[in-house]
Amino acid sequence: VSLHDLFGRKLLLITGKGGTGKTTLAAAIGRLQAERGRRVIVVEVDNFQSALTGPFGRTPGYQPITVAPNLDICNVTWKEALIEWLESTVPAQRIVRMILGNKTVQTFLDATPGARETMVLSRILTLTEQYDQVIVDMPASGHAVSILRVPHVAVNLMGSGPVGQRSRAVLSLFGSDRTALLIVGLPEEMVVNEMVELWEKLHVEVPELRTPLVVLNRAAIPTLTESERELLERLEAATPADRPLARELLQAGRWEAGLEASTAEALSRLKLEIQGAEVVSFPRLGSLGGFEGGPAQVVRQLAAALARQELAESRA
Ligand SMILES: Nc1ncnc2c1ncn2[C@@H]1O[C@H](COP(=O)(O)OP(=O)(O)O)[C@@H](O)[C@H]1O
Ligand SMILES: [Mg+2]
Repeated sequence: VSLHDLFGRKLLLITGKGGTGKTTLAAAIGRLQAERGRRVIVVEVDNFQSALTGPFGRTPGYQPITVAPNLDICNVTWKEALIEWLESTVPAQRIVRMILGNKTVQTFLDATPGARETMVLSRILTLTEQYDQVIVDMPASGHAVSILRVPHVAVNLMGSGPVGQRSRAVLSLFGSDRTALLIVGLPEEMVVNEMVELWEKLHVEVPELRTPLVVLNRAAIPTLTESERELLERLEAATPADRPLARELLQAGRWEAGLEASTAEALSRLKLEIQGAEVVSFPRLGSLGGFEGGPAQVVRQLAAALARQELAESRA
């Protein structure tokens, strides 16, 4: 499957360890697709503090807001999703207000595992009917599993009711080639472990989901040749300790060599341990002054890198 195809899927579910670049990637794909003329929404899930404010400069609520031509963002909070759900399934508004005004609703929700997740996923399903593409900035690994596994539980527990039906529709979208799962990580051993474990869990808990696209962010593209690495080692051995400037320069070279080695290691492990997965890497940004514009600038740079990857792919 090509990157061009994966980045263009109707529903993108982006997860992975915290701080690895999920939000940045969601925003970058959103920008790229919107610029191509597709109607896109980038969604965050029930965030108390919006993660999308950084990349887009505006704080979304439950109702979508437009941040660029063709590009909307929203925060799918479960409470608003529940109100919308009740209004669409319970015919009389008076009854909806009664239900919502009733304290037992809160108790019911607290006691019903999966109620919140079902409301959130149902809202995401609705958005897929309204937009060309829905990009979901999912919570981090374990929390994402606990959301994505809920439709199965719901189908088993409440087979034919409205919740069961909705959950079946969610599963059918998950299992189709209109959905892509993206697992984001970094070239660090512990992070790679978490990525592998995350897929092992998801694969078991939500067998509908197809093999993910694995994104290695902040990767160091190999630039040093074998002989340059050897040269670094020889210089290191030959440089006396009382030459601090020379040692500092050498340290920078060793640092780069180390990053390149851990990137290579991470790439080969991911290809081996997440069977059949497409693995793509994106560079560490910022060395060219990319941080001046903050998160929005990182998003723009990453969007440009995505476009280059697609271009390279189409040429290959
Ligand atoms: N390729 C990259 N190079 C440099 N900085 C990056 C890169 N990707 C993301 N960042 C920065 O790393 C931080 C964490 O990214 P973020 O997307 O918020 O991660 P997550 O959503 O997974 O917690 C942000 O400040 C972001 O701007
Ligand atoms: Mg985030």
